[in-house]
Amino acid sequence: GQDRPWRVGIVTASDKGSRGERVDGSGAVIREQLTALGAEVVGYQVVSDDRAELAAAMRMMADELHVDLLLTTGGTGFAPRDVTPEATGDVIDRLVPGLAEAMRAESAKVTNRAMLTRGIAGIRRRTLIVNLPGSPKAVRECLAVILPVLSHGLEVLG
Ligand code: MTE
Repeated sequence: GQDRPWRVGIVTASDKGSRGERVDGSGAVIREQLTALGAEVVGYQVVSDDRAELAAAMRMMADELHVDLLLTTGGTGFAPRDVTPEATGDVIDRLVPGLAEAMRAESAKVTNRAMLTRGIAGIRRRTLIVNLPGSPKAVRECLAVILPVLSHGLEVLG
């Protein structure tokens, strides 16, 4: 069980963001919402849409920063360079399908384009990793779905 603030990591997948050509509004929304819950954002990285670089950023946050929760945003769609789910698959030990299922199902009530996100969720050792879509709007909608169940999940995890 956990009797301390969650340690949170944020990885934004964005070619433009990584080149400084776009402000990361989605990462900012994640930070705001988690900070409001009393969590500590201890890691934040904007990474290009590159499978190996994304996997490396996720491993670093899990294995070196020991984050309890790692939220990614972006790179979950159909564009050729959208590879965040594949990078996540490279680093997780166990899948958590229910979180991705619930986000898609609830989001589909807002937009049928929710079907177009390929995001996954899973566990690497004691870190829960969840892929969120790329837009600030989608991030808000998806966090509203999963945040209410995370405290129980993270408690059991470590
Ligand atoms: N999920 C929610 N809740 N709200 C949204 O507006 N947009 C969708 C989808 N998921 C959306 C959503 C759209 S239009 C796309 S293309 C996919 O997420 C993939 O987004 P990404 O490539 O930025 O990760």
